[in-house]
Amino acid sequence: MSDQVKMTPLDYSADRPAAENPVKIMDLSIRDGHQSLFATRGRTEDMIPVAEMMDEVGFWAIETWGGATFDTMHRFLNEDPWERLRTLKRYIKKTPFSMLLRAQNLVGYRNYADDLAYAFVDRAAENGMDVFRTFDALNDYRNFETVVKQIKKSGKHFQGCICYTLTEPRLGGEVYNLDYYVDRAKSLESMGADSVCIKDMAGLLAPYDAYPLIKALKEAVEIPIHLHSHFTSGMSPMTHLKAIEAGVDIIDTCMTPYAYRTSHAAVEPLVMALLGTNRDTGFDIKKLAAINEVLEKEVMPKYKHLLDDSKVSIIDINVLLHQTPGGMLSNLVNQLREMDALDKIGEVYKELPKVRKDLGQIPLVTPTSQIVGVQTVNNVLHDTPDERYKMITGQVKDLCYGLYGKTAVPINAELQKKALKGYPRGEEPITCRPAEVLEPELEKAKAEIGDLAVDMDDLILYAQFPVTGKKFLEWKYGKAEVPDSVKPITLEDVKKKDEIIKKAKAGELIERKSDEPAKSAALRTFNVFVDNEYFNVEVDPTGEMQVVSAAPAVAAAPVPAAAPAPVAAEPAPAADTDGALLLAPMPGMIVKYLVNEGDSVTKGDAVVVLEAMKMENSLTAPADGVVKSIKFVSGDSVAKGAVLCVIG
Ligand code: CO
Repeated sequence: MSDQVKMTPLDYSADRPAAENPVKIMDLSIRDGHQSLFATRGRTEDMIPVAEMMDEVGFWAIETWGGATFDTMHRFLNEDPWERLRTLKRYIKKTPFSMLLRAQNLVGYRNYADDLAYAFVDRAAENGMDVFRTFDALNDYRNFETVVKQIKKSGKHFQGCICYTLTEPRLGGEVYNLDYYVDRAKSLESMGADSVCIKDMAGLLAPYDAYPLIKALKEAVEIPIHLHSHFTSGMSPMTHLKAIEAGVDIIDTCMTPYAYRTSHAAVEPLVMALLGTNRDTGFDIKKLAAINEVLEKEVMPKYKHLLDDSKVSIIDINVLLHQTPGGMLSNLVNQLREMDALDKIGEVYKELPKVRKDLGQIPLVTPTSQIVGVQTVNNVLHDTPDERYKMITGQVKDLCYGLYGKTAVPINAELQKKALKGYPRGEEPITCRPAEVLEPELEKAKAEIGDLAVDMDDLILYAQFPVTGKKFLEWKYGKAEVPDSVKPITLEDVKKKDEIIKKAKAGELIERKSDEPAKSAALRTFNVFVDNEYFNVEVDPTGEMQVVSAAPAVAAAPVPAAAPAPVAAEPAPAADTDGALLLAPMPGMIVKYLVNEGDSVTKGDAVVVLEAMKMENSLTAPADGVVKSIKFVSGDSVAKGAVLCVIG
């Protein structure tokens, strides 16, 4: 038994006396839990059945909002993100709400202007947010200044995060060592933080690094220390115990159905482990069990198909090997698969640390993990022996310009120069607080969206997500039909689907006739994936048909994708494509065209902005000429190889 955690004999009933220094717990199930395990697809209607019960547990706070929820709610679930906050507040009346705020990135993927940042925090507070857990991907706290002013003005709790990242297998090395984290914590305290959070998004914090780290932080600052450590690598339950022994104040956990894998450790084992010690949580394990029962019966059946069960292991060994977030690695795999380049994964693992070093050893967290990841894939796929960084993403250019903030070490000067050649804001990088160079954007957004944004909440949604936000507002106000793909499913639907799959597995879906025809030469075999179930189906066309000889081989996906692929528009027919074609180098969504039909362009001019894996890529004219035709509009999904425009 450690000197820090003392066992005293007492009864284990729910009304046992309070411990001397109880560990406080924040529950993450309805934000980080479903974001980590179920692609952030949790619906408000599935949180309500347990909301009042969770309010009775005694959590320090419940994380209910922010992170990716704002994006997925309006994009995939046809839910107004602001409405979730107000709805949950009607059920959870005692326990404070916490949100994940990406500092000046708010809940989006770039730095927004100060006017939008003030408005967002103000509205979040008004709608019911209490604790603003704030992080910056570069740990550059100049990016906190604006939101912190508003958090304080709104009278709310400002929790400052330090993103935990490593360049070595364990804490230490040149950049991310104990001094680094102590310095960051002091800096947060001096800017008025009410608590400090170690945000270990990849589960890299080892138990014997957590102990000295938490000890050092407790000595360096007065404010409470909060630990957020993902399970991904399998270390977090051990890390929690060592952090508790070192005196950590608050720990993040999930309810069991939302726990483990890339999510967080479950609360129940921790409650039992600490029972009767001086750090006993005081929680009633029976209350937790009752919540789990409702979740298992009424909620989880609707989500289990989203769980990536392509592997039996719940621990990601790659995280221990590569010190990168699990989500980032699965994105890389998905991106390579979409481009039929999964065989390049080994090269990607080798290239990744090089790109990260070139980009200033930045922490790997949203959005920097995406920036490093997508650029790494671009390098592996597009670089030639005599040209590195052939296709630089818009976000890497922004990073090189200083738009995300200051990197831990300087960016590779040669890469920076190349990235900033012809960069619209200027070729000299900035050193000031990034948002200082951003023009106010609310008025401009208002002019664009007009009356479709009825109030400030609508406008803030549109300002952060112009393409999908506009689509959502059209659904919300009945200006466009709501597609079936964003509608909720019921337990009935789940039951029906499960039965079909069961029958298919038992071979009962095939009704054989007695006069079964012989298989013809036109027989083709298809791999059919129903969620993660795999079926091999032979299809033999009947009636007239032309046999096409030497059909190109279609590379079948070797493993079923965890999430359904976006519906991709058909490539344009070849008939009207005389001239130089600009093809989509990867599947994605058209953000906007920068030219109109009839415009003259020079080879290399930026023509269209394509969003792929949440990164914007500006694609350039393949030749000099006049833009003859533009094939898509903003918001369209396109397949790899789709003709985006013709220049002739
Ligand atoms: Co997290």
